[in-house]
Amino acid sequence: MEMRTCLGRLQRLFCLSTQLNAIEAMTRDLELPNDVLQKVSAKLLDEFNKGLGKETHKSAEVKMFMTYVRDVPNGSESGTFLALDLGGTNFRVLLIDIDGDRFSMQNEIYAIPQEIMLGTGAELFEHIADCLSKFMDKYKVKDKKLPLGFTFSFPCRQEGLTKARLVQWTKGFKCSGVENEDVVQLLREAIKKRRDINIDVMAVVNDTTGTLMSCAHKNKQCRLGLIVGTGTNACYMEKLENVELWDGDQNEPRQVIINTEWGAFGDHGSLEFVRTRYDKEIDSASLNPGKQLFEKMISGMYMGELVRRVLVHLAEENLMFSSKLSEKMKTPYLFKTKYISQIESDPRGVYEEAHSVMVKMDMVGTDDDCESLKLICARVSSRAAHLVSAAVATILNKMKRPHTTVGVDGSVYRFHPRFHALMEAKIAELANPQYKFDLMLSEDGSGRGAALVAAVAVRTKKQKAT
Ligand code: GLC
Repeated sequence: MEMRTCLGRLQRLFCLSTQLNAIEAMTRDLELPNDVLQKVSAKLLDEFNKGLGKETHKSAEVKMFMTYVRDVPNGSESGTFLALDLGGTNFRVLLIDIDGDRFSMQNEIYAIPQEIMLGTGAELFEHIADCLSKFMDKYKVKDKKLPLGFTFSFPCRQEGLTKARLVQWTKGFKCSGVENEDVVQLLREAIKKRRDINIDVMAVVNDTTGTLMSCAHKNKQCRLGLIVGTGTNACYMEKLENVELWDGDQNEPRQVIINTEWGAFGDHGSLEFVRTRYDKEIDSASLNPGKQLFEKMISGMYMGELVRRVLVHLAEENLMFSSKLSEKMKTPYLFKTKYISQIESDPRGVYEEAHSVMVKMDMVGTDDDCESLKLICARVSSRAAHLVSAAVATILNKMKRPHTTVGVDGSVYRFHPRFHALMEAKIAELANPQYKFDLMLSEDGSGRGAALVAAVAVRTKKQKAT
């Protein structure tokens, strides 16, 4: 009898290891060794240089947009500012008091319903103006004309600090009539139409720029802003001599923040050597096929869906869940990226969170299934962290600064239990050891950063007037 139990256990262990071995082998292309990451980095550097060059800009995958933000805050900024932050699943309005190094702020979050995300541009900007008016009412500033910083986190070709043409929507937005238009103009028009509020748009910034500015406000070494959230992107301070397309003045400081828009890396084929069948499936079923291919391998909008597609494939191959898939599991985007963080937060050999996610997905699974689920989550999230690390290392190696602080924001970086540690280790392996770095979590970077850019603009305007 004992002999039989023992045999049964052995058989189970054997089955588990063959199942896991098979799954391990089938998902191995999600693991990117350093030589592959170095190749990614070399290709990205090529695209960065193409994006910055006059002749090559047009054909570059990565557009390296000039932001017209030329300096980080110097600590003498002050005043009361409004900020709008549009770019993810929520829209925020902020009221910020800046007094040198100190600041205080209040903010409200407003949802952007799906029908607005996919509706007309006019409706989107009316909604924004409506939220702004409600906010100003609530915080009793409706009678004031306050300077405003607008964080608009989509790829824009800027023509100045207050002029930004949307190149294309990303991250699930697709409002008609906005691409190619100046979003500041659209905002001003929507506000004017209401006649109940008055504001002064001082700057439009990307969330990466906001993050860089708000981290630089606290840490003088910050020159790189990074987002790993719904989307992914980075900006950094570049010397004017490297920006062939620079059309502004040549005054000091001879530098400008470049919004890389690295989410589009791979859009002309550079990443085919690392893209898997799951990446291709996600892309072709998306709202913007062929676009934002690097982003689709990394960001929070897609990571959960990547895991779901791997799981569906493995179940179909008879390797998981006894091949039974619930309706929820078959539905695109129902497996949320936050589930990955949850599942990976269980210690080794514990499957509490994994089981609770399975319940949410109406799935039935054994501990063995949970072990495989954990492996898949870890592979997808580590790949994302490693790709971002390769991209950060590319910028550090390009900037050649002895020490750079990287300001980081975004839900994936913030909430995934291993993302920070994975990045710290991998950047250290891929960046030249001469160029030291640290990763600093940004506190409310994007909104506060927009107010800081507005504050710097107000300060410079005042200085010019005197
Ligand atoms: C997308 C946008 C980019 C933004 C990033 C992070 O990649 O195109 O502008 O910075 O998401 O929110």
